[in-house]
Amino acid sequence: MKMWSGRFRQPLDREFEKWQRSFPYDRRLLPFELAASQAHGRALERAGVLTQAELAAIVGGLDAIGQNAESNPEFLDDPEAEDVHHFVEKQLAILIGDTGYKLHTGRSRNEQIATDLRLFVRAGIDTLRNLLGGWIEAFLIRAERAGSAAMPAYTHLQPAEPVLIAHWLLSYVEMFLRDADRLADCRKRVNLCPLGSGAVAGATLTLNRQVMSVELGFDGPTANSIDATADRDFAVEFVNGLSQLALHLSRWAEEMILFSTPAYGFVELPEAYSTGSSAMPQKKNPDLLELVRGKAARVVGCATTLQTLVKGLPLAYNKDLQETQEPLFDAADTMINILPLVTGFMQIVEFNEAKMNQAAGSGFMNAWAAAAYLVDRGVPSRLAHETIGKAVQLATERGCDLQKLALADLQALHPSFDAAFHSRLGLPEVLALHDVAGGTAPRHVKRALQNARERAASLRAHEQLATG
Ligand code: ARG
Repeated sequence: MKMWSGRFRQPLDREFEKWQRSFPYDRRLLPFELAASQAHGRALERAGVLTQAELAAIVGGLDAIGQNAESNPEFLDDPEAEDVHHFVEKQLAILIGDTGYKLHTGRSRNEQIATDLRLFVRAGIDTLRNLLGGWIEAFLIRAERAGSAAMPAYTHLQPAEPVLIAHWLLSYVEMFLRDADRLADCRKRVNLCPLGSGAVAGATLTLNRQVMSVELGFDGPTANSIDATADRDFAVEFVNGLSQLALHLSRWAEEMILFSTPAYGFVELPEAYSTGSSAMPQKKNPDLLELVRGKAARVVGCATTLQTLVKGLPLAYNKDLQETQEPLFDAADTMINILPLVTGFMQIVEFNEAKMNQAAGSGFMNAWAAAAYLVDRGVPSRLAHETIGKAVQLATERGCDLQKLALADLQALHPSFDAAFHSRLGLPEVLALHDVAGGTAPRHVKRALQNARERAASLRAHEQLATG
């Protein structure tokens, strides 16, 4: 039986009926739909609408639906079910007879779908924060292991200054910690319960919304029935958070791709996450990284779809909102599937630390340090910059590094040079010069690593609280 056929005299166009169904994809909301339906059933019993016996039959029936779905996936192949709400009502009536039709008393699918989607997003956030904990841990372990090895840092993709490899890795840790934090923040607004909002104006029964919300692990009921049934900003916010995560991952992937090319030779791609070319026998291609970079487009696309869907949409519920489901699911699945893969990659990828360290020690990346040396001797910064620029030019002509220039040649450029100059240009000295919190001087990187560890640990501790 349909949920709404009473006022219709003609059947639906068959193609339209098939086309408008959401059950092929919203069936995955079944566990949430069942939990929310049980909370509603119990509220009905407390309000005196259901007898205890009816409630027991309904709760038992809902449990049985969940078990059937788990033990037999074909159970869900129902070509008639319009959506997950209709499916549950149908199955409940099959299992317990007409009492099943009492469950929908005083509620609307509009509040149900809003509730199911909030539960879906909340579970997604908890899963993702957990996965991010493992992903960040992989960076922390690598940073620890990299010790005092350095690498070039680039601006404009040109070698700029040497940094510790650990400092580079910790830059990603910061990005991913913020992504995890964004999700936690989003969760606060997600975790409110629409049940009792009805179709738009609120339930017509005195349902205890507070109790329903507690039963489902929400922080409390939503404040306004129109808003609760109409808005999907929680989904927009979540998928925007996922886009940001995907964008960060795409930058990481791009750097790893670049660094794995022979031109850099910093990274040896693990065979377990690479593929060959069907044409060129020598190739080992960074497919995992390329797909990660590509998936960012997909997730950003999902966020754009969600934003466009709600743009200018009049209040309250409109069927357009059904279209929020697939991009929401797609974005969540995409990111939940990526994180374990990139974590596995990051655990085994080999860094050619000797080569990175060597690259950090050449290519004039000590030019700033050289200018700082002159500034220390009282030369105004602009003139120091100009002088070292000339020294770089001279060294380029001679095909050598700055520290190989003879003191006499340097003094011809500026009288302030003395014999201490050369000892200021070694890699350890240049690194130590960035002696500021957040900079790459080893003592600060050591502290930063410790600090990041603490924040990452509290991320996982929070996770245990949330799920346990
Ligand atoms: N399948 C619908 C959706 O996802 C459920 C809500 C239907 N509500 C309605 N008034 N037709 O949005």
